[in-house]
Amino acid sequence: MSHSIPQSLASRRILLIVGGGVAAYKALDLVRRLKERGASVHAVLTPAGAKFVTPLSLAALCGEPVRQDLFSLDDDARMGHIELSRDADLIVIAPATADLLAKAANGFAGDLASTLLLATDTRALAAPAMNLRMWLHPATQRNIARLKADGMAFVGPNEGEMACGEYGPGRMAEPLDIVAAVEKALQSPTAIPLPAGVLATSGALAGKRVVITSGPTHEPIDPVRYIANRSSGKQGHAIAQAAAWAGADVTLISGPVSIPDPVGVDMRHVETAAEMLAAVEAAMPTDIFIAAAAVADWRAAAPAAGKLKKVASGPPALMLVENPDILAAIGGRKQQRPALVVGFAAETDDILNHAREKLSKKGCDLIVANDVSPENAVLGGDLNTVHLVDAKGVDSWPRMRKEEVAARLIAALAERIGGSGS
Ligand code: C5P
Repeated sequence: MSHSIPQSLASRRILLIVGGGVAAYKALDLVRRLKERGASVHAVLTPAGAKFVTPLSLAALCGEPVRQDLFSLDDDARMGHIELSRDADLIVIAPATADLLAKAANGFAGDLASTLLLATDTRALAAPAMNLRMWLHPATQRNIARLKADGMAFVGPNEGEMACGEYGPGRMAEPLDIVAAVEKALQSPTAIPLPAGVLATSGALAGKRVVITSGPTHEPIDPVRYIANRSSGKQGHAIAQAAAWAGADVTLISGPVSIPDPVGVDMRHVETAAEMLAAVEAAMPTDIFIAAAAVADWRAAAPAAGKLKKVASGPPALMLVENPDILAAIGGRKQQRPALVVGFAAETDDILNHAREKLSKKGCDLIVANDVSPENAVLGGDLNTVHLVDAKGVDSWPRMRKEEVAARLIAALAERIGGSGS
């Protein structure tokens, strides 16, 4: 039967969570489609899902026992529940009900399905299916946005006639569309599990101190206007989070950003480059200094005390003066220089040469260079393509989530600092 079908999912392991909804019957077809492409499928059936399809039919199609209960004693002890999701290449939630998504978005773990989603770093793909008002409800949309930010992939829902007689978005994607989304999720580099490196680096920086700058700086022109740039702080904050997860004592000095503070770090919020420099100096000494902030190169020479007014004589001349270079100040220290000083080089052209130049000019041990040309959507985006440049050479990493860059960078720094014996 499957001879003519390309084995696009050969030896891929899928964990399928079947939630409660009329669309659950389509999950049976989905299992067939996944398996005929070479995947192995383990299934978890929620209590609500079991009202729509039987465990027996699901098990028969999967060729594997179906898990239903978090506290079951019957399941094979070697294949514990948690291993089910950790061993999978991808978790597919189909149908993904509003309830399952709400639990996943908020980290609930009161039943088998939500526990499996929480206890793993395996990525998940959700095929939502629900009444259109439930889909359009701000609570559901909020949960979806949060799950997307956490790295969950989505397929559908489609628009159409609903089981309840209404018309609109909420119908589960068709099995073949879900299969295509599974193939895509497994191919894309962003399918690398989000905190993959985190577990690997756990404790790797225990006992080390890390100071990080992040975000833009705002340089006042007058009390209501300022000079700024497009830095979101996402990369610097992710590095701070990864360092904290690696057990370091972390101080994060951030310019104005709209993202939340990382968990477990000592935060310093600043506005200007001068304030950032003062906060960095106050946070010394440190083992590692990472300058990820996009510090404004210039500030207004004399910010006006009152709001500048439009006048008939034309616009005011804006006199600029250079800001202190925080990275160069720390990298060039004669005393109490951190063992590792890491800078960033955000460029739009000739990236590697600029990075090498910065390495020596700013006294860094390592430069993380990235191409911030608008077509790469790095500034403000979730993905980054970086090159690690040091005196020995260049290590280019594939495009990946900023969290993944952070985890890998922390692993690389832990290796260096461990080796230096400092
Ligand atoms: O020279 P450029 O601004 O491209 O250098 C970027 C690197 O230098 C980044 O690591 C940035 O955080 C740091 N920097 C700094 N203080 C400045 C300017 C840049 O720490 N005033």
